[in-house]
Amino acid sequence: MRKRLFSAIQPSGTLHIGNYLGAIRNWVKLQYDYESFFCIVDLHAITVPQNPKELRKKTIEVAKIYLACGIDPKVSTIFIQSQVPQHAEMMWLLNTITKVSELKRMTQFKDKSEGKGVLAGLLNYPILMAADILLYDTNVVPVGEDQLQHVELTRTLARRFNSKFKNLLVEPKALIEKEGMRIMGLDDPSKKMSKSADSSYNYISLTDSDEIIKDKIKKAVTDSGKSIKYTDTKQAIKNLINIYALLDNAKPADIEEAYRRKGYAAFKTDLAEIVISFLKPLQGKMRSIEDAEVIKILNQGAEKAREIAQIKLSEVKKIIGLIV
Ligand code: TYM
Repeated sequence: MRKRLFSAIQPSGTLHIGNYLGAIRNWVKLQYDYESFFCIVDLHAITVPQNPKELRKKTIEVAKIYLACGIDPKVSTIFIQSQVPQHAEMMWLLNTITKVSELKRMTQFKDKSEGKGVLAGLLNYPILMAADILLYDTNVVPVGEDQLQHVELTRTLARRFNSKFKNLLVEPKALIEKEGMRIMGLDDPSKKMSKSADSSYNYISLTDSDEIIKDKIKKAVTDSGKSIKYTDTKQAIKNLINIYALLDNAKPADIEEAYRRKGYAAFKTDLAEIVISFLKPLQGKMRSIEDAEVIKILNQGAEKAREIAQIKLSEVKKIIGLIV
């Protein structure tokens, strides 16, 4: 039997090249080696303020992005989290073996929970993520570096459940590809590129127009000095070289060499062209996919996911002592 893979993206904000390079790009390759489940986690997306109309639109858009990037619905299962109610039910069960202190320690919670009135959903978010993963006997979870802590908690919960009750939950491994695992913000290379950034100059959205891409790259912060060097002391330019290298299948050293006598302006003009020529066909494919086609794929995906998830959920409930 093939090993299982599970991963997901929230349909919130706008998907950016960090999401592509840190996650989707790897999924496309891995789907042929693993039995893969790619989820659109709408229940996670409602843990922060959201607009219902926007959420519906984004959910379909994320599915189109998966398809346009090369996730093949004949090979992989694509589905919407809320259409598989087993996730929320499993989350409740795991909720009863999770310590509040473990949740409060999560970096993402700390970042997002500044101020008053922190919602329980935001705190419990990683338990739902653990439920997503554990329901499918997942072996590998390909994600960007920012999700590592959540996958570690998932492992802890699986181990705790197994030792408390019975060896029923598979301990998953995070699969993090070094390249692309942490694409930084264009306006602030000390922080990761983020959907929820205050300024749209932080990210390049997968749906940005050519003009916007050119403008954002032109305005991206650079380091002092003039040389195009791939080094830790020049985080801004290192990040831009990384994006260039990943999208153009080039080596950072070769890019350094090619721009040895050129300045930031020439480098940025070329980088904008590379980003545009990567995104153009992707955006064309997205536009060519009909909503009805996506909905059909998502319905079929949810049906398959529900069947698998229900088996695990029933086993877990029985072991805990619930009458099934
Ligand atoms: P989300 O929606 O924030 O991000 C989706 C994926 O994109 C990666 N990513 C990045 N990679 C590189 N550089 C960046 N700047 C960058 N920003 C985001 C993330 O690491 C992620 O892989 N909690 C998850 C969603 C989730 C999930 C799951 C993931 C819910 N359940 C189960 C895996 C398995 C999240 O918020 O991802």
